[in-house]
Amino acid sequence: MNNKQRVLLIISGGIAAYKSLDLIRELNRLNISIRCILTENAGKFVTPLSLTALSKDKVYQDLFSVSDENTMGHIQLSRNTDLVLVAPATANIIAKMSCGIADDLATTTLLATDKPVIIAPSMNVRMWNHASTQTNISTLLKRGIKIIGPEDGEMACGEFGLGRMSDIEKISATLNNFFKIKTNKAAGKLKGRKVVVTGGPTHEAIDPIRYITNHSSGKQGFAIARALHEQGATTTLITGPTQIPDPPGICVKHITTAEEMLQSCLDCLPADIVICAAAVSDWRIKNQYSEKIKKQDETLSLELMENPDILATIARTQKNRPNLVIGFAAETQNLLENATIKLDKKGCDWILANNVSKETGVFGGDTNQIKFISKNKIEEWPILSKEAIGKKLTKRIIAFLKDHKNGKD
Ligand code: C5P
Repeated sequence: MNNKQRVLLIISGGIAAYKSLDLIRELNRLNISIRCILTENAGKFVTPLSLTALSKDKVYQDLFSVSDENTMGHIQLSRNTDLVLVAPATANIIAKMSCGIADDLATTTLLATDKPVIIAPSMNVRMWNHASTQTNISTLLKRGIKIIGPEDGEMACGEFGLGRMSDIEKISATLNNFFKIKTNKAAGKLKGRKVVVTGGPTHEAIDPIRYITNHSSGKQGFAIARALHEQGATTTLITGPTQIPDPPGICVKHITTAEEMLQSCLDCLPADIVICAAAVSDWRIKNQYSEKIKKQDETLSLELMENPDILATIARTQKNRPNLVIGFAAETQNLLENATIKLDKKGCDWILANNVSKETGVFGGDTNQIKFISKNKIEEWPILSKEAIGKKLTKRIIAFLKDHKNGKD
């Protein structure tokens, strides 16, 4: 029996259509089988011949093809797949999807499908930012369609901004993740467990224009949430402002300030596990200015007050304390000493300590080096990608839950 996952790839008419050839190769490498629908405009960027050669299947283009209708019409195309991927998704096809327009094979199939749909938008920055496109995107999101990207950068048209189609690696990683999630849902070792992860920075307003924040990218928190979700955990990610799109299948709550993050965490309790990976601002402005501060003197004094400590609040809750409360300690000096003090002071079970000195590139980077600290154990982890750290931590959590039904290590 062929147990390959099947993707129906709809290629719409944007310049990024040329990348679909590489995308197919990458998905083949992941043992995903591809069938392509090409819109009329997409056919100007990429030929059916090359798509057929790579997908090893017929390429479908015509809604009213007599031969296709006998064998594989739009209804069958839309059903004989595990997932529909629209890449690139132009502003035009996004608008049609949002309104339910079905005037060619691609859009008719999209209207007829009962399978999950993921789109990778690609367009000029002004088209992406246009109110119509943004309304259409939020309509699609509300319907459960997943969006990958778009990314920031230079475009084929020479302008800069949001609108580039995400890299092939990112699209294929999302699909791989999607199928792994599908497979793991039944067998996931964290099935039935409720997990809350905090990530990203917080923004603390000074006045209506300015705020206090830090360099956190959110990558580590997102990677942890994804790894837990892959193991079947019911995962909520509470994040401050980041550039990272919401990961599919995870309940993402967007907050801005530390106080909002605390409230959102408390609203999620009871939970089995809470992991505080957010870089929460330790202070906020005591008296926020309601109007923009004007330049007056050479210096300006701002009075700060301490923010609530989310990790400590959860770790010290009397009622419904999670089985495991895990924190991070981002330090620039005396890493072990400061992190060990933090474990005790905050009352959490584990601390993942990391050196965030500028030269380590941890803030914003893709790797991290962790010292894992529990009440009676310190382990040094090698430099790993943030994804790998998410997976390693998830494995530890699984082992802990297996070994310690009641106690802690
Ligand atoms: O005290 P410090 O900010 O170094 O502690 C870091 C750990 O505490 C991280 O896990 C972070 O998410 C958490 N934290 C928090 N609320 C704060 C400050 C930090 O949850 N206000």
